[in-house]
Amino acid sequence: MKYQVIYTSSTGNTEKMAKAIFAAIPGLDKDIVRFDQETVRSEADVYFIGFGIHKGTCSMQLLDFLSELHNKKIVLFGTCGLGSGEEYYKCLEDDVKAWIADDSECVGCFMCQGRMPISVRNKYTEMMGQGNDEKIEKMIRNFDKAMTHPDDSDVRNASAFVEQIIRKLE
Ligand SMILES: Cc1cc2nc3c(=O)[nH]c(=O)nc-3n(C[C@H](O)[C@H](O)[C@H](O)COP(=O)(O)O)c2cc1C
Repeated sequence: MKYQVIYTSSTGNTEKMAKAIFAAIPGLDKDIVRFDQETVRSEADVYFIGFGIHKGTCSMQLLDFLSELHNKKIVLFGTCGLGSGEEYYKCLEDDVKAWIADDSECVGCFMCQGRMPISVRNKYTEMMGQGNDEKIEKMIRNFDKAMTHPDDSDVRNASAFVEQIIRKLE
């Protein structure tokens, strides 16, 4: 089985997870590439497609690419700033999954939290004092929690996830 890891990453969070996922794939028949318009993909059987969430989903170009993969096994992984857990992750995954072609199969999904640029926290701080302080304080707490992610435990979880996927594919 040939594997390819393809990812987008604007601040390096998903790139870190892509490298961890790549390292956890056994054997040598694998490669890893950053996705861009020029990405020449090799013919793999299994594609690990990674993305950072921006404004609710991943890039349109990546979704187009995903929809053009036919008769493939696809594994999605991503990082996002809001860490409100499984339900939120599932919504994000389902939105991306919807783009997978009918003749391809989604074998699994993995999401974890990723730190956000400090400009986001500054924006929250500026919004304080306008009647929504409780909500904004919650967003700031989430921002601070995200600051350490993806961390070593995210990397361990991603490796365990890959092991599980490989077993499923065997
Ligand atoms: C402009 C911008 C928009 C974002 N939008 C979202 C969002 O809608 N939902 C979310 O959970 N995180 C959002 N985030 C946080 C990113 O998903 C998070 O930082 C992610 O780990 C970035 O991954 P990357 O560095 O691999 O691109 C946003 C971050 C930025 C900078």
